[in-house]
Amino acid sequence: MVLLYKSEPERGRIWRALLAEHLPQLEFRTWPDVGQPEDIRYLVAWEPSAELLESLPNLELLFSVGAGIDHMDVARVPDQVGIVRMIDPALTQSMSEYVVMAVLALHRNLLDYIDAQRRGRWAPQGIVAARERRIGIMGLGNLGLAAIDALRQFGFDLAGWSRTPRTIDGVDCFAGSGSLAAFLGRTDILVCLLPLTEKTRGILCRRTFTMLPSGAGVINVGRGGHLVEPDLLSALEDGSVGAAVLDVFEEEPLAAGHPFWSHPRIVITPHRASHTGAMTGGQALLGNLRRHLAGEPMHGLVRRELGY
Ligand code: NDP
Ligand code: OXD
Repeated sequence: MVLLYKSEPERGRIWRALLAEHLPQLEFRTWPDVGQPEDIRYLVAWEPSAELLESLPNLELLFSVGAGIDHMDVARVPDQVGIVRMIDPALTQSMSEYVVMAVLALHRNLLDYIDAQRRGRWAPQGIVAARERRIGIMGLGNLGLAAIDALRQFGFDLAGWSRTPRTIDGVDCFAGSGSLAAFLGRTDILVCLLPLTEKTRGILCRRTFTMLPSGAGVINVGRGGHLVEPDLLSALEDGSVGAAVLDVFEEEPLAAGHPFWSHPRIVITPHRASHTGAMTGGQALLGNLRRHLAGEPMHGLVRRELGY
Protein backbone atom coordinates (compact mmCIF):
# COMPACT_ATOMS: atom_id res chain seq x y z
CA MET A 1 0.00 0.00 0.00
CA VAL A 2 1.82 3.09 -1.24
CA LEU A 3 1.04 6.80 -1.04
CA LEU A 4 2.75 9.31 -3.33
CA TYR A 5 3.12 12.87 -2.05
CA LYS A 6 3.67 15.80 -4.40
CA SER A 7 3.49 19.14 -2.61
CA GLU A 8 5.47 21.36 -0.22
CA PRO A 9 8.54 19.38 0.99
CA GLU A 10 8.41 20.56 4.62
CA ARG A 11 4.78 19.54 5.01
CA GLY A 12 5.65 16.25 3.31
CA ARG A 13 8.27 15.49 5.96
CA ILE A 14 5.72 16.06 8.72
CA TRP A 15 3.05 13.95 7.02
CA ARG A 16 5.54 11.17 6.34
CA ALA A 17 6.46 10.99 10.05
CA LEU A 18 2.83 11.15 11.17
CA LEU A 19 1.70 8.38 8.81
CA ALA A 20 4.74 6.23 9.63
CA GLU A 21 3.78 6.41 13.29
CA HIS A 22 0.06 5.80 12.95
CA LEU A 23 -0.28 3.83 9.73
CA PRO A 24 2.99 1.85 9.48
CA GLN A 25 1.60 -0.49 6.83
CA LEU A 26 1.53 2.50 4.41
CA GLU A 27 4.65 3.30 2.41
CA PHE A 28 5.15 7.05 1.85
CA ARG A 29 6.96 8.12 -1.31
CA THR A 30 7.74 11.69 -2.27
CA TRP A 31 7.56 12.76 -5.92
CA PRO A 32 9.65 12.50 -8.12
CA ASP A 33 10.74 9.24 -6.43
CA VAL A 34 7.69 7.35 -7.66
CA GLY A 35 9.31 3.92 -7.78
CA GLN A 36 7.07 1.38 -9.54
CA PRO A 37 4.06 3.46 -10.68
CA GLU A 38 1.73 0.45 -10.36
CA ASP A 39 2.36 0.41 -6.56
CA ILE A 40 0.73 3.78 -5.98
CA ARG A 41 -2.81 3.65 -4.55
CA TYR A 42 -3.03 7.14 -3.08
CA LEU A 43 -1.83 10.44 -4.48
CA VAL A 44 -1.63 13.60 -2.35
CA ALA A 45 -1.15 16.73 -4.44
CA TRP A 46 -2.29 20.29 -5.18
CA GLU A 47 -2.12 20.19 -8.96
CA PRO A 48 -1.31 16.73 -10.32
CA SER A 49 -0.40 16.79 -13.99
CA ALA A 50 -2.34 14.69 -16.49
CA GLU A 51 0.92 12.82 -17.26
CA LEU A 52 1.35 11.86 -13.61
CA LEU A 53 -2.28 10.70 -13.30
CA GLU A 54 -2.01 8.66 -16.50
CA SER A 55 1.14 6.99 -15.24
CA LEU A 56 -0.52 5.54 -12.10
CA PRO A 57 -2.70 2.60 -13.26
CA ASN A 58 -3.79 1.46 -9.77
CA LEU A 59 -4.59 4.85 -8.27
CA GLU A 60 -7.68 4.73 -6.01
CA LEU A 61 -7.77 8.13 -4.34
CA LEU A 62 -6.50 11.60 -5.10
CA PHE A 63 -6.25 13.81 -1.99
CA SER A 64 -6.12 17.58 -2.52
CA VAL A 65 -3.78 19.29 -0.06
CA GLY A 66 -6.25 22.19 -0.04
CA ALA A 67 -9.96 22.73 0.57
CA GLY A 68 -10.65 23.55 -3.07
CA ILE A 69 -10.18 21.29 -6.07
CA ASP A 70 -10.70 23.79 -8.91
CA HIS A 71 -6.94 23.90 -9.57
CA MET A 72 -7.12 20.26 -10.66
CA ASP A 73 -8.11 19.19 -14.13
CA VAL A 74 -10.84 16.88 -12.80
CA ALA A 75 -11.75 15.71 -16.29
CA ARG A 76 -8.29 14.14 -16.54
CA VAL A 77 -8.72 12.18 -13.29
CA PRO A 78 -9.87 8.65 -14.22
CA ASP A 79 -13.51 7.95 -13.28
CA GLN A 80 -12.66 5.21 -10.78
CA VAL A 81 -10.38 7.53 -8.77
CA GLY A 82 -12.12 9.23 -5.84
CA ILE A 83 -11.18 12.88 -5.22
CA VAL A 84 -11.04 14.05 -1.61
CA ARG A 85 -10.61 17.66 -0.55
CA MET A 86 -9.03 18.89 2.66
CA ILE A 87 -11.19 19.52 5.69
CA ASP A 88 -8.75 20.79 8.28
CA PRO A 89 -9.81 22.48 11.54
CA ALA A 90 -6.81 24.85 11.46
CA LEU A 91 -7.66 25.95 7.91
CA THR A 92 -11.29 26.49 8.93
CA GLN A 93 -10.27 28.50 12.01
CA SER A 94 -7.95 30.80 10.11
CA MET A 95 -10.59 31.40 7.42
CA SER A 96 -13.08 32.39 10.13
CA GLU A 97 -10.52 34.79 11.60
CA TYR A 98 -9.96 36.36 8.18
CA VAL A 99 -13.68 36.76 7.50
CA VAL A 100 -14.20 38.39 10.90
CA MET A 101 -11.23 40.70 10.26
CA ALA A 102 -12.49 41.73 6.82
CA VAL A 103 -16.12 42.14 7.88
CA LEU A 104 -15.14 44.28 10.88
CA ALA A 105 -12.79 46.37 8.73
CA LEU A 106 -15.63 47.19 6.34
CA HIS A 107 -18.26 47.50 9.07
CA ARG A 108 -16.11 50.01 11.01
CA ASN A 109 -14.92 51.98 7.93
CA LEU A 110 -11.26 51.12 8.40
CA LEU A 111 -10.35 52.10 4.83
CA ASP A 112 -11.73 55.60 5.41
CA TYR A 113 -9.70 55.99 8.59
CA ILE A 114 -6.50 54.77 6.92
CA ASP A 115 -7.09 57.27 4.16
CA ALA A 116 -7.83 60.08 6.63
CA GLN A 117 -4.71 59.25 8.62
CA ARG A 118 -2.55 59.43 5.49
CA ARG A 119 -4.01 62.86 4.78
CA GLY A 120 -3.56 64.00 8.38
CA ARG A 121 -7.32 64.45 8.79
CA TRP A 122 -9.33 63.88 11.98
CA ALA A 123 -12.54 62.56 10.41
CA PRO A 124 -14.89 60.71 12.75
CA GLN A 125 -17.66 58.70 11.15
CA GLY A 126 -21.01 57.48 12.45
CA ILE A 127 -21.10 54.09 14.12
CA VAL A 128 -23.61 51.56 12.77
CA ALA A 129 -24.75 48.95 15.28
CA ALA A 130 -23.81 45.41 14.28
CA ARG A 131 -27.45 44.32 14.44
CA GLU A 132 -28.17 46.87 11.70
CA ARG A 133 -25.37 45.61 9.45
CA ARG A 134 -26.55 42.89 7.09
CA ILE A 135 -23.87 40.34 6.27
CA GLY A 136 -24.45 37.83 3.45
CA ILE A 137 -22.30 34.72 3.10
CA MET A 138 -22.28 33.00 -0.30
CA GLY A 139 -21.49 29.35 0.36
CA LEU A 140 -22.76 27.57 3.46
CA GLY A 141 -20.31 24.69 3.46
CA ASN A 142 -17.57 23.88 5.90
CA LEU A 143 -15.98 27.35 5.75
CA GLY A 144 -19.14 29.43 5.32
CA LEU A 145 -20.84 27.85 8.33
CA ALA A 146 -17.75 28.35 10.51
CA ALA A 147 -17.53 32.00 9.42
CA ILE A 148 -21.18 32.49 10.35
CA ASP A 149 -20.53 31.04 13.79
CA ALA A 150 -17.57 33.37 14.28
CA LEU A 151 -19.62 36.41 13.20
CA ARG A 152 -22.54 35.61 15.49
CA GLN A 153 -20.84 36.95 18.62
CA PHE A 154 -21.02 40.51 17.24
CA GLY A 155 -24.78 40.37 16.70
CA PHE A 156 -24.72 41.03 12.93
CA ASP A 157 -27.87 40.48 10.88
CA LEU A 158 -26.75 37.31 9.08
CA ALA A 159 -27.87 35.67 5.86
CA GLY A 160 -26.48 32.85 3.74
CA TRP A 161 -26.87 31.57 0.21
CA SER A 162 -26.30 28.02 -0.95
CA ARG A 163 -27.20 25.69 -3.80
CA THR A 164 -29.59 23.54 -1.77
CA PRO A 165 -31.88 24.83 1.01
CA ARG A 166 -30.48 25.09 4.54
CA THR A 167 -31.95 25.91 7.91
CA ILE A 168 -29.52 27.65 10.27
CA ASP A 169 -30.59 29.06 13.59
CA GLY A 170 -30.63 32.86 13.49
CA VAL A 171 -29.60 33.06 9.83
CA ASP A 172 -31.82 34.11 6.94
CA CYS A 173 -31.17 31.30 4.44
CA PHE A 174 -31.54 31.57 0.66
CA ALA A 175 -30.94 28.85 -1.92
CA GLY A 176 -30.53 28.68 -5.66
CA SER A 177 -30.25 31.25 -8.42
CA GLY A 178 -33.94 32.20 -8.05
CA SER A 179 -33.28 33.65 -4.61
CA LEU A 180 -29.99 35.40 -5.41
CA ALA A 181 -31.59 38.83 -5.95
CA ALA A 182 -33.44 38.67 -2.61
CA PHE A 183 -30.25 37.58 -0.83
CA LEU A 184 -28.14 40.32 -2.41
CA GLY A 185 -30.81 42.97 -1.84
CA ARG A 186 -30.46 42.53 1.94
CA THR A 187 -26.66 42.33 2.02
CA ASP A 188 -24.52 45.29 3.11
CA ILE A 189 -21.32 43.20 3.25
CA LEU A 190 -21.04 40.26 0.88
CA VAL A 191 -18.59 37.41 1.58
CA CYS A 192 -17.86 34.91 -1.20
CA LEU A 193 -16.96 31.49 0.17
CA LEU A 194 -18.14 29.47 -2.79
CA PRO A 195 -16.16 26.77 -4.58
CA LEU A 196 -15.19 27.69 -8.13
CA THR A 197 -17.35 25.65 -10.50
CA GLU A 198 -18.95 26.14 -13.92
CA LYS A 199 -21.97 27.61 -12.11
CA THR A 200 -20.10 30.02 -9.83
CA ARG A 201 -17.37 31.33 -12.16
CA GLY A 202 -17.80 35.08 -12.61
CA ILE A 203 -20.58 35.32 -10.02
CA LEU A 204 -19.13 38.53 -8.57
CA CYS A 205 -20.01 40.56 -11.63
CA ARG A 206 -21.75 43.77 -12.62
CA ARG A 207 -25.22 42.17 -12.36
CA THR A 208 -24.53 40.96 -8.82
CA PHE A 209 -23.08 44.31 -7.74
CA THR A 210 -26.13 46.21 -8.97
CA MET A 211 -28.39 43.93 -6.89
CA LEU A 212 -26.53 44.89 -3.69
CA PRO A 213 -27.55 48.00 -1.74
CA SER A 214 -25.55 50.96 -3.02
CA GLY A 215 -22.07 51.21 -1.43
CA ALA A 216 -22.01 47.59 -0.20
CA GLY A 217 -18.75 45.92 0.79
CA VAL A 218 -17.43 42.86 -1.05
CA ILE A 219 -15.07 40.25 0.40
CA ASN A 220 -13.74 37.53 -1.90
CA VAL A 221 -12.05 34.60 -0.19
CA GLY A 222 -13.32 31.95 -2.61
CA ARG A 223 -11.32 32.03 -5.83
CA GLY A 224 -10.13 34.73 -8.20
CA GLY A 225 -12.33 33.21 -10.93
CA HIS A 226 -15.44 34.23 -8.99
CA LEU A 227 -14.69 37.90 -9.57
CA VAL A 228 -14.97 39.78 -12.86
CA GLU A 229 -12.20 42.23 -12.07
CA PRO A 230 -13.16 45.08 -14.47
CA ASP A 231 -16.73 44.91 -13.12
CA LEU A 232 -15.49 45.48 -9.58
CA LEU A 233 -13.43 48.46 -10.71
CA SER A 234 -16.40 50.05 -12.43
CA ALA A 235 -18.72 49.27 -9.49
CA LEU A 236 -16.24 51.01 -7.16
CA GLU A 237 -16.09 53.90 -9.58
CA ASP A 238 -19.86 54.44 -9.68
CA GLY A 239 -20.32 53.71 -5.96
CA SER A 240 -22.48 50.61 -6.27
CA VAL A 241 -19.68 48.88 -4.32
CA GLY A 242 -18.07 50.94 -1.56
CA ALA A 243 -14.99 48.85 -0.77
CA ALA A 244 -13.56 45.39 -1.29
CA VAL A 245 -11.26 42.99 0.54
CA LEU A 246 -9.73 40.43 -1.82
CA ASP A 247 -7.58 37.43 -0.99
CA VAL A 248 -7.74 35.55 -4.28
CA PHE A 249 -7.14 36.62 -7.87
CA GLU A 250 -7.56 35.33 -11.40
CA GLU A 251 -3.80 35.51 -11.78
CA GLU A 252 -1.65 34.81 -8.70
CA PRO A 253 0.63 36.46 -7.79
CA LEU A 254 -1.25 39.59 -8.82
CA ALA A 255 0.61 41.14 -11.75
CA ALA A 256 2.79 44.19 -11.15
CA GLY A 257 0.90 47.30 -12.16
CA HIS A 258 -2.52 45.68 -11.72
CA PRO A 259 -5.02 48.42 -10.75
CA PHE A 260 -5.95 46.59 -7.53
CA TRP A 261 -2.51 47.23 -6.02
CA SER A 262 -3.04 50.95 -5.65
CA HIS A 263 -6.83 51.22 -5.48
CA PRO A 264 -7.79 53.22 -2.37
CA ARG A 265 -10.99 51.22 -1.86
CA ILE A 266 -9.43 47.76 -2.19
CA VAL A 267 -7.45 45.81 0.38
CA ILE A 268 -5.57 42.83 -0.99
CA THR A 269 -3.92 39.90 0.75
CA PRO A 270 -1.80 37.27 -1.06
CA HIS A 271 -4.09 34.20 -0.90
CA ARG A 272 -3.38 33.71 2.78
CA ALA A 273 -6.86 33.95 4.26
CA SER A 274 -6.17 30.39 5.19
CA HIS A 275 -3.80 27.52 4.64
CA THR A 276 -3.71 23.79 5.37
CA GLY A 277 -1.98 23.26 8.72
CA ALA A 278 1.04 20.94 8.61
CA MET A 279 0.05 18.86 11.63
CA THR A 280 -3.74 19.25 11.49
CA GLY A 281 -3.80 18.62 7.74
CA GLY A 282 -1.74 15.46 8.25
CA GLN A 283 -4.20 14.31 10.89
CA ALA A 284 -7.09 14.98 8.50
CA LEU A 285 -5.36 12.87 5.85
CA LEU A 286 -4.67 10.11 8.36
CA GLY A 287 -8.31 10.13 9.49
CA ASN A 288 -9.52 9.77 5.91
CA LEU A 289 -7.07 6.97 5.10
CA ARG A 290 -8.27 5.11 8.20
CA ARG A 291 -11.91 5.64 7.20
CA HIS A 292 -11.17 4.43 3.69
CA LEU A 293 -9.39 1.32 4.96
CA ALA A 294 -12.31 0.61 7.31
CA GLY A 295 -14.79 1.01 4.45
CA GLU A 296 -16.31 4.13 6.05
CA PRO A 297 -17.26 7.36 4.23
CA MET A 298 -14.38 9.84 4.04
CA HIS A 299 -14.73 13.53 4.93
CA GLY A 300 -14.64 15.83 1.92
CA LEU A 301 -15.30 13.33 -0.86
CA VAL A 302 -15.92 15.45 -3.96
CA ARG A 303 -19.11 15.05 -5.99
CA ARG A 304 -17.64 15.27 -9.43
CA GLU A 305 -20.93 16.03 -11.13
CA LEU A 306 -21.19 19.21 -9.01
CA GLY A 307 -17.51 20.17 -9.23
CA TYR A 308 -17.05 20.48 -5.44
P1 NDP B 1 -17.90 23.31 0.74
O1 NDP B 1 -17.92 22.38 -0.41
O2 NDP B 1 -17.96 22.76 2.12
O3 NDP B 1 -19.12 24.33 0.61
C1 NDP B 1 -19.47 24.93 -0.59
C2 NDP B 1 -20.74 25.74 -0.40
O4 NDP B 1 -21.01 26.45 -1.61
C3 NDP B 1 -21.97 24.86 -0.12
O5 NDP B 1 -22.83 25.51 0.80
C4 NDP B 1 -22.65 24.80 -1.49
O6 NDP B 1 -24.06 24.63 -1.47
C5 NDP B 1 -22.34 26.19 -2.02
N1 NDP B 1 -22.45 26.21 -3.48
C6 NDP B 1 -21.76 25.47 -4.39
N2 NDP B 1 -22.20 25.74 -5.63
C7 NDP B 1 -23.17 26.66 -5.50
C8 NDP B 1 -24.03 27.33 -6.42
N3 NDP B 1 -23.96 27.10 -7.74
N4 NDP B 1 -24.91 28.21 -5.93
C9 NDP B 1 -25.01 28.45 -4.60
N5 NDP B 1 -24.24 27.84 -3.67
C10 NDP B 1 -23.33 26.97 -4.12
O7 NDP B 1 -16.61 24.23 0.57
P2 NDP B 1 -15.72 24.93 1.70
O8 NDP B 1 -16.61 25.75 2.56
O9 NDP B 1 -14.83 23.95 2.36
O10 NDP B 1 -14.75 25.84 0.80
C11 NDP B 1 -15.27 26.84 -0.07
C12 NDP B 1 -14.16 27.39 -0.94
O11 NDP B 1 -13.31 28.25 -0.19
C13 NDP B 1 -13.17 26.39 -1.54
O12 NDP B 1 -13.73 25.70 -2.64
C14 NDP B 1 -12.03 27.28 -1.95
O13 NDP B 1 -12.24 27.77 -3.24
C15 NDP B 1 -12.12 28.45 -0.96
N6 NDP B 1 -10.95 28.48 -0.07
C16 NDP B 1 -10.17 29.60 -0.06
C17 NDP B 1 -9.08 29.68 0.76
C18 NDP B 1 -8.27 30.91 0.86
O14 NDP B 1 -7.23 30.91 1.52
N7 NDP B 1 -8.69 31.99 0.24
C19 NDP B 1 -8.70 28.56 1.65
C20 NDP B 1 -9.59 27.43 1.55
C21 NDP B 1 -10.67 27.40 0.72
P3 NDP B 1 -24.73 23.29 -0.83
O15 NDP B 1 -24.59 23.50 0.68
O16 NDP B 1 -26.12 23.36 -1.27
O17 NDP B 1 -23.94 22.14 -1.34
C1 OXD C 1 -7.37 25.90 -0.38
C2 OXD C 1 -6.64 27.16 -0.47
O1 OXD C 1 -8.21 25.60 -1.24
O2 OXD C 1 -5.63 27.33 0.26
O3 OXD C 1 -7.13 25.16 0.59
O4 OXD C 1 -7.02 28.05 -1.23
